[in-house]
Amino acid sequence: MITEYKIICSGIKKKVIYHFSDTHLTEYDELSSKEEIDKAIHQTESWERVRADFARHGAEPYGEYEKRAPGYHFCRALETAKDGDALAIAGDLLDYVSPANIRFAEKHLSAFDKPYVAVCGNHENSLELPQTGALSQMARPVSVCDLGDLQLIGVDNSKRNVSAEQNDALRALLENGKKSVIVMHVPVMCESNAHKLKQSGVYFQFNYEGCPDENIDFINIIDTHSQNVVMVLAGHLHYSNYALISGKVPQFVSSQGIIGNINKYVIGEENEIF
Ligand SMILES: [Fe+2]
Ligand SMILES: [Fe+2]
Repeated sequence: MITEYKIICSGIKKKVIYHFSDTHLTEYDELSSKEEIDKAIHQTESWERVRADFARHGAEPYGEYEKRAPGYHFCRALETAKDGDALAIAGDLLDYVSPANIRFAEKHLSAFDKPYVAVCGNHENSLELPQTGALSQMARPVSVCDLGDLQLIGVDNSKRNVSAEQNDALRALLENGKKSVIVMHVPVMCESNAHKLKQSGVYFQFNYEGCPDENIDFINIIDTHSQNVVMVLAGHLHYSNYALISGKVPQFVSSQGIIGNINKYVIGEENEIF
């Protein structure tokens, strides 16, 4: 399911950004060991129940199309995103880091010919990801995808924290005055989504009660530069969510990519996008 949003943003040329997360790939191939194959089959079966439960929770359709394999939905999302200007992958692309999952994701992502930013989810470990190639971007604490008058900034907050160094890097990037989109895995709990996130549990909150000071600093940096932060894109919830960080910066959480959900944002001057 593609969900489209229009975002008015003055001072930039019209752009189309795609965003998905949580495809939870569970691949195996002819090079896989028996152990890897068994794990892939077991995890695929586990997700069949879990993704159906999430779809029900999010009141989303869950028919024959949605039931297709995670690998199918990942490839389909990349195909859809080809007609955009850039892509944001907000984590949990892989269900776990394995040689077959890396081979599969690397093969398809390296053939994707548009700029993209990809960040780790809690199911990935940046230390286990390749340091070169299409997936290497996910291994970085902060990454940037420059689109000229707009930049996508990936921040790895997959362990529900950020470091002071990541905050310094984010601040420096936002201080260049360019319109920016921040991409990360775990969403910020805001006034308008607090009720839902609290129901889901602390596992789904970045700024949980008692969280590190750096998490609060991170939100303050977004707040301070809100005039240039066009939006924040996240995942992790497995249901769609929209909220305003500090009451002003839109945060979109994409629903689970494992059943084919993808968000599309048309960004630009009002007279160009409507
Ligand atoms: Fe996930
Ligand atoms: Fe997650």
